[in-house]
Amino acid sequence: ESQSKLLRIQSCIRAFTDFPTKGIMFRDICPLLKDPAALTAAIDLLEDYVKKNHEEVDLLIGLDARGFLFGPLLAQRLGVGFVLVRKKGKLPGPTVSVEYELEYGKAEAEMQEDAVEAGQKVLLIDDLLATGGTLYAACELMKRQQAQVLACLVVIELKELNGKDKLKPYPVFSLVKY
Ligand code: PRP
Ligand code: ADE
Repeated sequence: ESQSKLLRIQSCIRAFTDFPTKGIMFRDICPLLKDPAALTAAIDLLEDYVKKNHEEVDLLIGLDARGFLFGPLLAQRLGVGFVLVRKKGKLPGPTVSVEYELEYGKAEAEMQEDAVEAGQKVLLIDDLLATGGTLYAACELMKRQQAQVLACLVVIELKELNGKDKLKPYPVFSLVKY
């Protein structure tokens, strides 16, 4: 059953060459969002993983912007709150931020200072793991707030960029690998 869910998810991920810049093979999740069964399957499999491996979760942390597409759906299934890590300058009030590098550029991740409390157990979610720079920055934010990262969840993992190594010792769970 989980195999057929995975096949449905895989069938809904498209590749575009040389986007947004030359040499990048862009993995497009838009068809997955457009297919209700595939989207449900993705959330099902993420939920299964969390329930099997991480019994106590306080919060789910989603990364700007495509982590926001999956995060709230999963948070509702888990019965936990959802917190935004955004690109700099988007969140009001006192914030904490960290700079990071992307597969194709540079950015700064920011979170509201009161979003996560010391000692809370959190899971991070994004659509895709490439170099790991984005999730690493989010892990740094969690460390700064003294939250405990249980794992990083992604729909897609690009193996050749070794993002998993960058995120050590945090476990990474991905649905589809390229
Ligand atoms: C993409 C993707 C991940 C990140 C992965 O987001 O959605 O967040 O890059 O790359 P990394 O593992 O090398 O850090 P992007 O910054 O392009 O922004 P978007 O979600 O706003 O499109
Ligand atoms: N974010 C970083 N690298 C990406 C890729 N190859 N496809 C889609 N999103 C990405």
